[in-house]
Order: sequence, then structure tokens, then C-alpha cells
Amino acid sequence: MMEIKREWKEKGYIDAPVPEGVDLKAEVRRMCKEKNAVILAHYYTDKPLQEVADFIGDSLALARKAAKTNADIIVMCGVHFMGETNKVLCPNKKVLIPDLNSSCSLAESCPAEDFKKFVEAHPGHKVVSYVNTSAAVKTLTDVVVTSSNAKQIVNSFPKDEKLIFGPDRNLGEYINQLTGRQMVLWDGACHVHERFSVGKILELKEQYPGAKVLAHPECKGPVVKMADVVGSTAALLNYTAESNETTFIVATESGILFEMQRKSPEKTFIPVPPEDSETQGRTCMCNECVYMRMNTMEKLYNCLKYEWPEVEVSPEVIEKAVKPIEKMLEISERLGI
Ligand code: 13P
Ligand code: SF4
Repeated sequence: MMEIKREWKEKGYIDAPVPEGVDLKAEVRRMCKEKNAVILAHYYTDKPLQEVADFIGDSLALARKAAKTNADIIVMCGVHFMGETNKVLCPNKKVLIPDLNSSCSLAESCPAEDFKKFVEAHPGHKVVSYVNTSAAVKTLTDVVVTSSNAKQIVNSFPKDEKLIFGPDRNLGEYINQLTGRQMVLWDGACHVHERFSVGKILELKEQYPGAKVLAHPECKGPVVKMADVVGSTAALLNYTAESNETTFIVATESGILFEMQRKSPEKTFIPVPPEDSETQGRTCMCNECVYMRMNTMEKLYNCLKYEWPEVEVSPEVIEKAVKPIEKMLEISERLGI
């Protein structure tokens, strides 16, 4: 086993220089073959990572893929909770992520100790948690959902069942509206989706009359309300590929545009910039998740080479967290989602 320097451990990723002239993509693929490793990448990561991955998908698809893989090593190019979900589903496999700092503002907005008190303050409620949570929060959960299956899974509970939904208040409100429920909501949000505004979308609609507005349900209520199509990243992607429309204004993390454009090269995709884009003096007008973008080809190369950083979840947490995740996978399978 190669030595992992203390400075790397402190940083949470390996910043060893890659050998000059090396073809990173070819080397990554070679190591995957040699080590029987599989690379899973979320749609929000940078294009080179999506290109080198064995599989790209939304949160639900990635969890499914991990649950079924025969690989010895899973490399998760995404964020930390996704690595944890893979480890919980595959406790005997080595799960790597290129950068241990790739957190998620939504998962961070729901610390397990505080969520436990919230659950205790609502006796008699079942707990529905979005997959964007730590494994510790999942141990307090009855069933996990993703944005692809939240409506159907919430509807699978009896109409009078009292439910807590966490941590995304925007998704929770949206699901309450769709299902006519009054789930008690945890007050959390994602820093990327919260920054989309009605104003910026109206500006784009003026520039591109006739374009369809697509929004992820993690966006704020008024943005969701004005969208023509609301859905998970996979649902939005499928819509653009199958629709007869040709121009789309996209209110979700801009990484999804790579796959949208690849699937429909003849169509036009316009990323919605964040509300405060001018005031921040940003050069890139895209709304990007800083955590997803911590994944780079260099870190991926080093992570495969050194087989570190590894995602660790205690056996006690795995034992409890696996139940609500498996329940989600079973219900989704049964309902054909
Ligand atoms: P989905 O992948 O379920 O669409 O969720 C979006 C997201 O924010 C992932 O972190
Ligand atoms: Fe978390 Fe938002 Fe980034 Fe998704 S886009 S990983 S919810 S911070």
C-alpha cells in the first residue's frame, strides 16, 4: 500500500503532482481495469469526470448502481453523502471519493443531533429524509427519498399518517402541494438552488421567448411555480431529450447541461445564473455547486492510484442507515420508478 502523507490527510485529498505528459483519462481507465474499480459520477460534476466515469446519473440512479455493482472499489465523483450511501449499501467494498471536503450545504443544514431533537419533539410521526443527508441522519429515518421518487414514496404512506420531511424545505413544500399532505418540514436548503430567482428567469424568458423553463424542486417556491417542468435532474434530462421543444432555460446546477447537450446536440440550453451573479462580479454566469466541483481529474487520478481518501461509516451506523435506504430502493422498484 502506498504511503498517505500526513499533509494529505490534513487536506482531505491528495495533491501530489501528476506525472508530466500523462493522459489522465487513459490512466484512470487503466487503473479501474487493474483494480476492478467502478467510477460513478453525478450529473453536477465537471465534464471530464462525466466523460471518464463508468456511469453518470442522479442520486437515485447512483444509489441503485452502487447496490448492484460487482466492482471491488467504488469511486464516487459527487459529494460526501453519496459516498456514505454507497458505503452503507456496500459495506465490504472500498468506497473512495476524490476529496473528503466535498460536502453538501443541504446535508450540512441538518446536523444529526439537532434533527434527533426535532424528531423527538414530534412523537408519532414517521420520518421521511431526502437522500442529501448524512448517514447519521439516515439512522433517524423511516424511509429515504430522492427528488425522483419523493412524491410516490410519500403517497405510499396512509393519508392520515403524520410525517416529518427533512432537510429541504423547498422540496418538502413542493411535495406537500403535490400530495395534499401537511408534512412537518425541517428548515434546510441547498445553496445552489436557493440562488435561482424569478427575476433572472424572467430576463431570460424575454431574451428567449418560447423557451421552456425547467426547474429542480430544490428551488424556491416562486421559481418552481413559474417553471414549465419541475423534476429531478434525471427527469429534466429525459424531458429535454424526448420533448419536441428546442430551447430550454435550466434552473438547476449547470453541470447537467453537458449531458443535456450530448443527448440533444441540436437543441439550445440556457443555464440560469444565480440571483447575485452581477454583484459578485463572477466571470462564469453558471450556478455551480462548489462541493461537486471539488472533484477534479487530478484528484481522481491520485485517489485511484493511492486508494485514498476512503469513505468511512461505522458498522453501528451502517446497520441502522441501510434500512431506510433499502426501503426506498424496494418501493421504487415496486412502483416502477
Ligand atoms: P437529484 O440528483 O436527485 O436530482 O438531486 C439533485 C442534487 O442536488 C444532488 O445533490
Ligand atoms: Fe448539495 Fe446543493 Fe450541491 Fe446538491 S447542489 S450536492 S444539494 S449543495
